[in-house]
Amino acid sequence: MLQNALGEQRYGASLTPTPDVCPPALPQRQVLLANPRGFCAGVQRAIEAVERALEHDGAPVYVRRAIVHNRTVVERLERLGAVFVQEIDEIPSGAVAILSAHGSARSVVRAAQARALRMIDAVCPLVTKVHAEIEGWYRAGRHVLLIGHTGHPEVVGTLGQLPTGAVSVVCTPEDLEALDLAPNMALAYAVQTTFSQRDAAEMIAAIKARFRDVAAPRSSDICYATSNRQDAISAIAAQCDLVLVAGDTMSSNARRLVEVASAAGCPDARLISGGADLPRGAVLRAKRIGLTAAASTPDSVVAEICEALRELDCTITETPGAIERVRFRPVSLEPLGLRSPEGSIKDRLARLRTDIDTTLEAAIGHARGRDRRLADAMRYATIGGGKRFRALLVTAVSDLVGGAYDQALRVGAAIECVHAQSLVHDDLPCMDDDDRRRGRPTLHRKFDEATAVLAGDALLALAFEILAEEATHPDPAVRAQLVLSMARSIGQDGLAGGQMMDLYPSARPRPDDIFECESRKTGALIRYAVVAGSLLGQCSAEDRNRLIAFADNLGLVFQIRDDMLDSIGDPAVVGKAVGKDARAGRNSATTLLGLEGAAVQSSLLESACHQALDGFGPKASPLRELARFAVNRMH
Ligand code: IPE
Ligand code: IPE
Ligand code: MG
Ligand code: MG
Ligand code: MG
Repeated sequence: MLQNALGEQRYGASLTPTPDVCPPALPQRQVLLANPRGFCAGVQRAIEAVERALEHDGAPVYVRRAIVHNRTVVERLERLGAVFVQEIDEIPSGAVAILSAHGSARSVVRAAQARALRMIDAVCPLVTKVHAEIEGWYRAGRHVLLIGHTGHPEVVGTLGQLPTGAVSVVCTPEDLEALDLAPNMALAYAVQTTFSQRDAAEMIAAIKARFRDVAAPRSSDICYATSNRQDAISAIAAQCDLVLVAGDTMSSNARRLVEVASAAGCPDARLISGGADLPRGAVLRAKRIGLTAAASTPDSVVAEICEALRELDCTITETPGAIERVRFRPVSLEPLGLRSPEGSIKDRLARLRTDIDTTLEAAIGHARGRDRRLADAMRYATIGGGKRFRALLVTAVSDLVGGAYDQALRVGAAIECVHAQSLVHDDLPCMDDDDRRRGRPTLHRKFDEATAVLAGDALLALAFEILAEEATHPDPAVRAQLVLSMARSIGQDGLAGGQMMDLYPSARPRPDDIFECESRKTGALIRYAVVAGSLLGQCSAEDRNRLIAFADNLGLVFQIRDDMLDSIGDPAVVGKAVGKDARAGRNSATTLLGLEGAAVQSSLLESACHQALDGFGPKASPLRELARFAVNRMH
């Protein structure tokens, strides 16, 4: 793990179970991590809805029932200011009310309207699909059989879409037998999204055997995440003498994973809520342990369990599995007068882009007597291109700690100069030999190699000039800090050192080597953006440490996403060639961990980013948005 001069951790390795790609020949105990596992898109979206409502409206916001069935999630949201209630009448009129991911009966929605609550429904779109389906069948005159667990909130919500008596819940073949319905009755069936695939298949067969006229859903009601998690644990369970499912007793999909592991042949499958809950005796007796997590279990809980397992001499190995690309549009917060998060990040970007360009134009200047070609190349490298992610970061952090926008803008421009220089040199034939950057020819292609080297040098010098000028901060001590910190982030311990590790890797690199390389070559400058932002305002040591923890995880995840985009990106969207790393035999998070391993690592790092920001409450929302962007970006 990297440490800086102050001994601070450079990336959140303590929160990230590092997959052991090459386990030792005779491990004491091997842990197989099932893939995929953990948060599904619906859970993620519901949790984000609560976070965004808190960011926008401030605490408290009220949530009816557990937003998802996980205590760690609920407790974290409580710390951020969410108040969980059982029923709508516990919520003061006019307040913000969020309905859970499992879906709510229509009577609940009506009760919220009657109290004039500003209601946000965080129901999973795949549950809404089931609601729409049964409504259609009801209108068509069919009686609906809902295969599900009586009393589970999703089943209660689904039943509550139609008048009493329109739906019968059946869970077992005995329930079905007990139904008093004629064999020729017009029926349809629907399934709870988190039901067991095997049990559902059995029930469907029994329904079809007994009734003649049965309409079926167009596609399975059991959601993709439930199916994938069940398949993944089923694939490894038979080889394991113990399977641990991270999740809560109230979570249906978590409990199903335990049943699936047992049915697949594991003699001992258990549900555990976290590291403290680890069955030490059973772990010590086991040779091979499977570990998975429910769709509502945060990665931080898995990471905590992995740490506890490591202490018991376990080696952790990721197993390959399906890659999930399902993403839903964010829950609409229109009842709060809020636009979508993409909208807000886009607006801020548009303003910043213009302001950064103006600052860079002025800094490069048009003074007479200077070399025109050099200035043109510097402009070509910096102006009008790029995501401006680092500049956005410095302005967002500075804003968070009360810094001035104009000063943050200058620091942002300085960072963009360094970043542009690093790209210009990175693209040279002696390094990555690339022809396209930001959707156009690389600088050495447009000009020539010598000009590219010198424009890079001049941009580096210009960055320090901008930082050292009085307009950047009135206090010379702050300016000196800005300069010193920048120098350190681009030298041997930072960008240049990381690029060397990339070009001259060790013979058998392990994930930690690649993370160290990426934390330096890309992470260091991103970390600088955060540190510099914090220097511009009033920031307590505690807040700075939180921000640094955020930045370390963000910097690493940003480069891991770059590595992933090299495999999955579209050259027209990323603005540069793709497939380069594999072609060049270059180590990257993707080539070393596989695409799914890299995706797992990114989601762990993203959780760590959000966790680091928890102490700031709602005002850190722009930084949360930047973390989401870093992980999901397509360019
Ligand atoms: C999320 O997992 C599944 C849905 C939101 C439908 P949870 O643990 O919160 O939900 P259940 O208990 O499996 O339905
Ligand atoms: C280099 O990483 C990061 C820099 C410090 C320039 P890559 O070499 O993977 O960056 P791209 O893919 O060329 O943008
Ligand atoms: Mg490179
Ligand atoms: Mg490159
Ligand atoms: Mg790359």
